[in-house]
Amino acid sequence: MTLALTLRQHLGQNAGKDPLRLAVASAVDALATACIDIADLIGRGALAGITGQAQGRNADGDLQKDLDVRADELIRQALKSVPFAALASEEAEAPEIRDMTAPICIAFDPLDGSSNIDSNMTIGTIFSIVVTPLEGQAAFTRPGTTQLAAGFAVYGPQTSLVLTLGDGVDIFTLDRDDKTYKAVRRRVQIPVDTAEYAINASNHRHWEQPVRDFIAECLAGVDGPRSKDFNMRWIGSLVAEAYRILARGGVFLYPADAREGYTDGRLRLVYEAHPMAFIVEQAGGAASTGRERILELAPRTIHQRVPLIMGSIEKVRRVELLHTDPNAASKTAPLFGRRGLFQV
Ligand code: AHG
Ligand code: MN
Ligand code: MN
Repeated sequence: MTLALTLRQHLGQNAGKDPLRLAVASAVDALATACIDIADLIGRGALAGITGQAQGRNADGDLQKDLDVRADELIRQALKSVPFAALASEEAEAPEIRDMTAPICIAFDPLDGSSNIDSNMTIGTIFSIVVTPLEGQAAFTRPGTTQLAAGFAVYGPQTSLVLTLGDGVDIFTLDRDDKTYKAVRRRVQIPVDTAEYAINASNHRHWEQPVRDFIAECLAGVDGPRSKDFNMRWIGSLVAEAYRILARGGVFLYPADAREGYTDGRLRLVYEAHPMAFIVEQAGGAASTGRERILELAPRTIHQRVPLIMGSIEKVRRVELLHTDPNAASKTAPLFGRRGLFQV
């Protein structure tokens, strides 16, 4: 029986003797190790004093849970021995500047899906590694195409790490016996089409018309313009939705909506949408705002939000067409007129 490739072997094979790749490898290894500690903490839950209760608000105004803070601390601790120029976290207002001569900058969401902590649901950690900008340029202001690596951990029945180093997507599962990550899926590809979508449907009345039209087409099922029935999922953890899409395809939508503070959606470009878009595109999918490719967006601020539609490329392209060509909306489903399913 061939031994499964370990994460460290994968990182070493990719890095070779290249200084930049070696810096990326040391950062990914440190982040992955921190994720083992975070998984342990989550696994002990209330026994480790984790309640999921809010204890304040972060820089972006989100409720800050105890585990958000503990996960942030564990990651910073793990990165103490890693050479980086700048470190940005969802849980800190401004990036930490350490050594601008170091070759990489790291952005992370220490705990994604915080609203699920108290319900024992799958949550995760997301990270993005970019090359340090040239002298005089601020960190985390360049398009997502400058990423060197991106990944996320999912703390579910398995603790798994999804990783791209820019040459495909691989998935590693933590072997709890020897605390090593072992490859379980290599060069993952997202199915081109899908019959599954994920959106928080309670926001329907706040969506722009193109999103309403897309969801109406899905709801119309086999009698509608898509001529097939769809299934819906909404977990409330971006990492869990992304992992499912990598497993069986699908399209995830967190669009802009009319609520105050949501006109650019809910997800943050630097440490959620950029890394997810890098991974999804590397797996043959697409990631868009509905109008623009996520990876081409350059952040104006660290916590800038962005609409995110990602997953199976055929469905992402359909959502984009509905945004760019108002006549593209199917007229053939009278029940789902231009006002969308619920006549409001
Ligand atoms: P975070 O916990 O880091 O703030 O991320 C939560 C995000 C994302 O994981 C999820 O898809 C989305 O928020 C859920 O938003 P709603 O609660 O509005 O559905
Ligand atoms: Mn998040
Ligand atoms: Mn978070």
